[in-house]
Amino acid sequence: MLLLLFALSPLAALILFVLYRLIIARFFNVLNQLRGPPVSQWFGNHLEHVLNPSVTPRVYELFIQRYGRAVKIRGFFPWDERVLILDPVALSHIMKDTTTYEKPWESRTLITSIIGCGMLSAEGQMHRRQRRVAMPAFSGQNMQTLVDIVFKKGVQLKDVWENMTSGGEAKIDVCQFLSRATFDIIGLAGFDYTFNAIHDETNELFLAYRNAFEVFISQGGPFRTLLSIYLPSINKLFADETVRTVQRSQRVIRRVAGRLIQEKKQKIEAGELSGDPYDGKDLLTLLLKSNASHEVPFEQRLSDEDILHNINTFMFAGSDTSSLSMTWTLLLLAQNPIVQARLRDELLSVASQFPASFSDFSPDQIQSLYNVVSALPLLNNVTRESLRLIPPLHSTLRVATRTDEIPTLHPIRTNDGQDKHSFTIPKNTVVHVSLESFNLDKSVWGDDAWEFNPDRWDKLPQAVQRYPWHYSSLLSFSAGPRACPGLRFALIEIKIFYYIMLTNFVFTEADQITKHNVVLTRPYLSGKFRAGTQCPLLVSPFVRSV
Ligand code: HEM
Ligand SMILES: *[C@@H]1O[C@H](CO)[C@@H](O)[C@H](O)[C@H]1NC(C)=O
Ligand SMILES: *[C@@H]1O[C@H](CO)[C@@H](O)[C@H](O)[C@H]1NC(C)=O
Ligand SMILES: *[C@@H]1O[C@H](CO)[C@@H](O)[C@H](O)[C@H]1NC(C)=O
Repeated sequence: MLLLLFALSPLAALILFVLYRLIIARFFNVLNQLRGPPVSQWFGNHLEHVLNPSVTPRVYELFIQRYGRAVKIRGFFPWDERVLILDPVALSHIMKDTTTYEKPWESRTLITSIIGCGMLSAEGQMHRRQRRVAMPAFSGQNMQTLVDIVFKKGVQLKDVWENMTSGGEAKIDVCQFLSRATFDIIGLAGFDYTFNAIHDETNELFLAYRNAFEVFISQGGPFRTLLSIYLPSINKLFADETVRTVQRSQRVIRRVAGRLIQEKKQKIEAGELSGDPYDGKDLLTLLLKSNASHEVPFEQRLSDEDILHNINTFMFAGSDTSSLSMTWTLLLLAQNPIVQARLRDELLSVASQFPASFSDFSPDQIQSLYNVVSALPLLNNVTRESLRLIPPLHSTLRVATRTDEIPTLHPIRTNDGQDKHSFTIPKNTVVHVSLESFNLDKSVWGDDAWEFNPDRWDKLPQAVQRYPWHYSSLLSFSAGPRACPGLRFALIEIKIFYYIMLTNFVFTEADQITKHNVVLTRPYLSGKFRAGTQCPLLVSPFVRSV
């Protein structure tokens, strides 16, 4: 009898909790003043509608017409009411105030369990500290070494593709190769480590990172992942293959990357003692030096553990984001051969200033190539247009840590029929920020907002110029104090790679490709999601006429 009571009491508590959330919390929720789409079933939700890039542009348009620019939507559970933000003033308010709007603990727990608590998942004081130490490493002056690394990796990738196309046109999964190339780049630029993944994928540390990251994109995972967030002990009780893989990867990362950190520290110390300072330019060295500089107050310094987590974070945040952006651009250029030819002409127009063969470039010529290329107008416009149309990160989440009043640009029509220029958001409400929705808003960018048109940048509508985001009126790198610190880094990769690829190859569309949002927006063969992410294109050598 007693046993039965024991067994039942958690159940009773659960029932009370659910009733509370469903009845009390729902009817007295101030969020109820917002309108939103109906929910058809008890456990129905709108996540697919607001996250799937194949439907989101249409969904957002419909939501704006029907419910306005602050929409009440349903998350995982019946009591999980969220707000989808489609208003620019509301968005600025949220992204600016990182104290009131944090990342939800669910996503932070997930990220932390795999790569540790680095810049991407830390909050509050801890986050400010990490960002403060890391930012100098991303300064323009430190990006020079990166130009060199990127150029050499680009040439290596070109050589591999040249081999693959030596018999003429070949089908190449550009996504896979670009992903390996950006991995190599962040390895070298991040901590002076050679993965050499373009050539083979056998490096121990490369495999450790790749296996750890694949947990995010593995299929059948989401439910288990969700469960393990709410019940972390499940991972200890039922260590399945995924969990074991992550643990094995983490051991390798800790051992190999941990050793690299110690070696760097010794080099820096030895440099100081000998009076001949160590001049490594990788992010790890710069992070260690920044941590030791007098400008960072003592209590804001980082531990070895923090440094390791941030290296992991750079590997995670700085590889597939760039490679996916480049992959989407090559696909868009394959689909728009006229733009591709125009861009190639622009790139070739500067080629005559440089040696005919990449192997003859001096270090100075590599730098000046980047300076020349980064100022080319059409290249700039194609880069921006691709990042606008297909932002690698589709959306992000925030949660209100206190009740707040959010101002809006467009009037919000509440359920009682009033028009207001602000709305109340209760503490703990999840805010859904779709980066894509702002990039594709027809009322701002014009009727062709969903099309690839690099020339739009010649005559931007007034409304666009008022967007205060991190990069060129685009939300692709987010906004505010938590915007992407890797923007400059990514642009160097993107522009040098486009130069090398387009002056050496012609890209033609091969198969129908569909977008799926699996942490990032990734390409898949239409109807073949299970075959994994890929973007095969027909690649043929481009021979310059002399
Ligand atoms: C095309 C390439 C890239 C895109 C589109 C991109 C986009 C973004 C976005 C949207 C965020 C905000 C995430 C959120 O708030 O949920 C972010 C954060 C971040 N990115 Fe990037 N990123 C790119 C490349 C890079 C590179 C190359 C690096 C590093 C080398 C990097 C490092 C980071 C870090 C450390 C954060 C966390 C910042 C913080 O929370 O304070 N990113 N990125
Ligand atoms: C290209 O192919 C040749 C012959 O198969 C090989 O020796 C060479 O290493 C290859 N180069 C690259 C960059 O893969
Ligand atoms: C950062 O600086 C502090 C204070 O000097 C030091 O204790 C700590 O070990 C340093 N962190 C790293 C990773 O070297
Ligand atoms: C790209 O955009 C800029 C404006 O940002 C413009 O000056 C330039 O001429 C553009 N267009 C082309 C086709 O190169």
